[in-house]
Amino acid sequence: MSASPLRLRRSVLYVPASNARAMAKAWTLGADAIVFDLEDAVAPTAKADARAALATHLAEHRLPGTEAVIRVNALNTADIEPDLEAVARCQPDAMLVPKVNRAEQLQDFARRAARLGVPALTQLWAMVETAAGIAALDSIVQAGAGLQPQLTCLVVGTNDIAKETGVCAGDGRIYLMPWLMNIVLVAKRRGVSVLDGVWNNFRDQPGFELETAQSMKMGFDGKTLIHPSQVEPANRHFSPSPEAVEEAHRIVAVFSDPQHAASNVVNLDGRMVERLHFEQALRLLAIHARTA
Ligand code: COA
Ligand code: MG
Repeated sequence: MSASPLRLRRSVLYVPASNARAMAKAWTLGADAIVFDLEDAVAPTAKADARAALATHLAEHRLPGTEAVIRVNALNTADIEPDLEAVARCQPDAMLVPKVNRAEQLQDFARRAARLGVPALTQLWAMVETAAGIAALDSIVQAGAGLQPQLTCLVVGTNDIAKETGVCAGDGRIYLMPWLMNIVLVAKRRGVSVLDGVWNNFRDQPGFELETAQSMKMGFDGKTLIHPSQVEPANRHFSPSPEAVEEAHRIVAVFSDPQHAASNVVNLDGRMVERLHFEQALRLLAIHARTA
């Protein structure tokens, strides 16, 4: 389990804002967040209708505890102004900015959002999906922390990374791994959530399970998803397992024992546990309480 914010973002489902049937279904699936996409999932000629459909949809559909996020088009496109006007109208929990390459871009985005009436409390989420964005990530996230709207979440865009760099995204992601782990490291250092990229082959359920288990071990907070069949496995992999919960209870019990009140290290059945494990255990149980 990672050490980033307690907000649950285990399963974050993309849905094209041009697909009314899928948008309605998205709320019924138990995802922690839904990303309504105005960018790559919507054809250029369908974008205006998608914005209007999204505004109608979000006026009628909200679910407490499920974050509603709108992915807008890139800053250098003609779509960005109408997209931000749609965000101002819809008032989602967050807006997701694609193809962020530099800190100044994010600052410019936040200024334009404010000018077009997007409330300051709307969170800012950023896609990490370009070589420039990966290289400049720490400065981007550092700048994002001081913005209003504030940067709270990074979303990996594996398909775009593979397209730009030519890296093979298969083979258990061995070639992508240094970049992905660097993204996780920056997110943890700066205290923002970090979500893994999508698994495209949505009929290959065993493949999805494997990649999601890997993603959890890498320290991601959750996985971005493209299909209803991926929500339950993502919630399961990113929730504490029964074994981990049992172990956490044992650690809490041993440190709550008055005879260990002044101990910083304890022998728990032949294993050293420290106060930092106690803190980790409390955190895991807090997450478990929200997922059980
Ligand atoms: N969110 C909500 N519902 C979805 C969904 C999604 N992302 N993807 C599919 N569904 C729904 C379908 O509408 C269908 O609903 P129905 O039973 O009421 O008709 C059901 O799930 C089964 O869908 P299925 O037939 O298996 O797939 P499909 O051919 O309808 O859709 C995709 C396949 C890939 C086109 C679709 O899953 C999709 O658009 N995913 C999101 C893509 C996206 O946003 N990409 C951008 C970010 S990477
Ligand atoms: Mg992309």
